[in-house]
Amino acid sequence: MKKQLEQIQQDAIAALNAADSPAALEELRVRLLGKKGDLTAVLKQMGKLSPEERPVMGQLANTVRANIEQVLEARKTEINALVLEKKLADEAIDVTIPGNEVKMGHEHPMNQVLQEIKDLFVGLGYQIVDGPEIELASYNFTKLNIEEGHPSRDRSDTFYFTDDDSVLLRTQTSPMQIRVMEHAKPPICILAPGRVYRKDEADATHSPMFHQIEGLVVDEHITMGDLKGALVTLMKSLYGEDAVMRFRPHHFPFTEPSCEMDMQCHKCHGTGEVNGQVCSTCHGEGWIELLGAGMVHTEVLCGCGIDPEKYSGFAFGMGLERMAMRRTRINDLRLIFENDVRFLNQF
Ligand code: DAH
Repeated sequence: MKKQLEQIQQDAIAALNAADSPAALEELRVRLLGKKGDLTAVLKQMGKLSPEERPVMGQLANTVRANIEQVLEARKTEINALVLEKKLADEAIDVTIPGNEVKMGHEHPMNQVLQEIKDLFVGLGYQIVDGPEIELASYNFTKLNIEEGHPSRDRSDTFYFTDDDSVLLRTQTSPMQIRVMEHAKPPICILAPGRVYRKDEADATHSPMFHQIEGLVVDEHITMGDLKGALVTLMKSLYGEDAVMRFRPHHFPFTEPSCEMDMQCHKCHGTGEVNGQVCSTCHGEGWIELLGAGMVHTEVLCGCGIDPEKYSGFAFGMGLERMAMRRTRINDLRLIFENDVRFLNQF
């Protein structure tokens, strides 16, 4: 019986050391130590032993069981470590493999220019304000000194919502001047970008929807010099320090005096000709019209409850698409709205 026990121990240790998975180990544990296991089978024969032999064999059997259990535990720890190691190796991520490129979008070229303009004016102390695109005719026209019967109020130019022509899609951002002046006290210093609508057929330079940026400054002692300073600063920042500008007298009902600002054509440098041909960018003019501006009309100030004896102000309004087209050298306005990614990817 002693031999049998020693043989069991020897075989068990060899088998345990050969086992290479948690499942194989468990199978061995049952076979060696379980109720129907080898060791139990031997112990069942204890009854046949003499009373002197019994405790000796009993102790040996216990030692064998303890030895097997010890090897089993040690092997279990080893195998678990091996399993973990293999798992880690199998699931290792090579962080040096180049990843799949994620295609990022970017801001629309028109919004890039808008952002640049906003940044510049915020830096000059302007506040950005937003207003409704569905507007009252009184704000879009009447309070801006544009009287009944003015051609711009015509149904062929303006989208009206009501039969009495009192509600419309704003045709300009200038009504924001009124909305701000009716509620705020000077000093006022705002920039109001937004969509405007006119009944225009779409072509290379027109669209029934486009964007304007309105500026308004009202305070004591505001002069035309302040207006020129703000606009020249903007144009130099957008088009470079060597950009050449001129102010030309003009008429707008809501400013007096009024002017338009032109930039010298970057293609022909004001000559109107390129290689003996009429310049295609400025059509031979030598100048490109950029925006309308002027000193806020006293009638408009009074209408908003601002005392023109104490306060004066300047205003300007420019087409955003036009600024973006000059900046990015796009020659067809429709490209800005078509949103063809082959076009947008170029910016
Ligand atoms: N609202 C005018 C337009 O759409 C542009 C304009 C001209 C705005 C003169 C102004 C201004 O603020 O002072 O043609």
